[in-house]
Amino acid sequence: MLKNKTAIVTGAGQGIGKGIAVALAKEGCNIVVSDINQETCDQTFAEITKLGVQSIAVKCDVSKKTEVNNLSKVVAEKFNKIDILVNNAGIFPFVPFAKMTEADWDKVLNINLKSMFLTSQAISLNMPEGGKIVNISSVASFIGFEGLVHYCASKSGVNGLVRALALELAPRKINVNAVAPGAIETPGAKSDEKTKQQTLMMIPQKRMGKPEDIANTVVFLASDKSDYITGQVIVVDGGWTLR
Ligand SMILES: NC(=O)c1ccc[n+]([C@@H]2O[C@H](COP(=O)([O-])OP(=O)(O)OC[C@H]3O[C@@H](n4cnc5c(N)ncnc54)[C@H](O)[C@@H]3O)[C@@H](O)[C@H]2O)c1
Repeated sequence: MLKNKTAIVTGAGQGIGKGIAVALAKEGCNIVVSDINQETCDQTFAEITKLGVQSIAVKCDVSKKTEVNNLSKVVAEKFNKIDILVNNAGIFPFVPFAKMTEADWDKVLNINLKSMFLTSQAISLNMPEGGKIVNISSVASFIGFEGLVHYCASKSGVNGLVRALALELAPRKINVNAVAPGAIETPGAKSDEKTKQQTLMMIPQKRMGKPEDIANTVVFLASDKSDYITGQVIVVDGGWTLR
């Protein structure tokens, strides 16, 4: 479905990002595997190359403009166009609001939200018609979670960015959408058994999500089957936020 396309996936070293990179590669898409962690980035890169598509691994802290510019430069040297940008990198450190420092706030907002401004601006500049930007938001953009005031704010910001950028890029036939995952089992979202059972009780489908559940939605939004969808946030949560 995505032959002759090239995608950048940020935060692709593990978890949802890795799932997305693998799923896109299985559709024949060339992949730029990017992560702040060189080791896990190289591991995903090794898996992707086995799938027979072209790939490179580029270490990048998406919250830093100089590193994003470098990513853009390295990618342009290897591929003549980037069709798909998946902004997945994100962090979710629990901090009670009363103890939240300015540094805590800035770090979460910079990695989860400012990064999407930086990468989207750098990469969309030379994106061809039919290009797709897919941002990973969260159900936390719609409902509140104690200990995650900064995170909830950052993800609500992502949804706003998606709507406004979709308007600006529509004349160039570039679509901008988001996927809002519910509770997905990843290395970053590890929880103890008690917390997991409490979460499961709130999910109508009675199972945790897998990276593939998010990746399948991203593949659709990255393909031409979603050409008439832009500025939307698609919730993938097993029904968690329905009540
Ligand atoms: N797991 C969930 O339940 C869940 C739910 C809703 C939304 N999300 C969102 O999905 C995305 C992925 O989450 P995950 O659960 O796979 O997390 P994870 O911690 O397992 O993986 C995140 C990856 O992002 C990378 N990363 C962190 N900071 C970075 C930076 N500054 N620059 C580049 N890469 C960076 C990490 O090295 C890691 O490889 C995040 O945006 C997260 O907010 C996750």
